[in-house]
Amino acid sequence: MRKQLHVNLFEMNCVSHIVHGLWVHPENNRHRFNDLDYWTELAQLLEYGTFDGVFLADVIGTYDQFRDGPETALREGMQIPSNDPLLVIPAMAAVTRNLGFGATFSTTYEPPFAFARRMSTLDHLTKGRVGWNIVTSYLPNAARNFGHDTEVVHDHRYEIADEYLDVLYKLWEGSWDDDAVIQDRERRVYTDPSKVRYIDHVGEHFKVAGPHLCQPSRQRTPVLFQAT
Ligand SMILES: Cc1cc2nc3c(=O)[nH]c(=O)nc-3n(C[C@H](O)[C@H](O)[C@H](O)COP(=O)(O)O)c2cc1C
Repeated sequence: MRKQLHVNLFEMNCVSHIVHGLWVHPENNRHRFNDLDYWTELAQLLEYGTFDGVFLADVIGTYDQFRDGPETALREGMQIPSNDPLLVIPAMAAVTRNLGFGATFSTTYEPPFAFARRMSTLDHLTKGRVGWNIVTSYLPNAARNFGHDTEVVHDHRYEIADEYLDVLYKLWEGSWDDDAVIQDRERRVYTDPSKVRYIDHVGEHFKVAGPHLCQPSRQRTPVLFQAT
C-alpha cells in the first residue's frame, strides 16, 4: 500500500502567525491580509498545489504578559492586528472546489447558539468543506475581553466545552430531519413543521431552546478537531 501524504497550511488572519519577523522581508506580502484578494489568491495557490486544507488559528485577546503590556506584540505584529478567521472562508470557497477549511473558535466566552448558526452557514456556503478547531482559549487578556476579571481556569474551561458540544450536537444533529425542507410551491409549504424540533437544552452553563435556525447542511456537524 502506498502511503498518502496530506498537506495542510497552518495560517492565521493576521500579519504574523508563528513566523514572527518575516513580514519585514521585502518580498513578503502579509500586510495584505486585510484584502480579500490576498485570501482568494492564497486559496487558489493552495488548490493548485493540491493542498488538502488551510487551518486558520485564532486568539481572542492579545499577548500582554511579556513586560507587563501589549507593546511587544503590537510593535512586532505578533498576532495583532488580527481579523476574524471565519469571514474569509466563503471567499476562499468561491474560488476553489476541493480545498478544506479549518477555523478556530473558542467555547469559553461566546454562547453556542450563534456559533452553531455561523458554522452551519459556512458548511452550506463551502458545500461541506469546513472544519472547526475547538479551543478553550488560553490568554488572560481574552478573559478580560469577555467580562471576566481573570482567566477561566483550565479544567473549568473544558467542562464548559463539554456542555457547549452537547448543545451543538443537539442543534446540528437533532433539531431538523433530513427531509424537513420540502419547498412545495403548490401547497405553499417551505418546511414541514412536524420535522423541526426545539432542543430545550437546560444545563449548568447554557440554556438554549432552539430550534436551530439553519436547515441541515452537507456535514451537519463539521469536521471537529483539536490541536494539542
Ligand atoms: C498546532 C496547534 C495549534 C493551536 N491553535 C490554537 C489556536 O488557534 N487558538 C487557541 O486558542 N489555541 C490553540 N492551540 C492551543 C490548544 O488549543 C491547547 O490549548 C493547547 O494545546 C494546550 O492544551 P490544554 O488546553 O489542554 O492545556 C493550538 C495548539 C497547537 C498544538
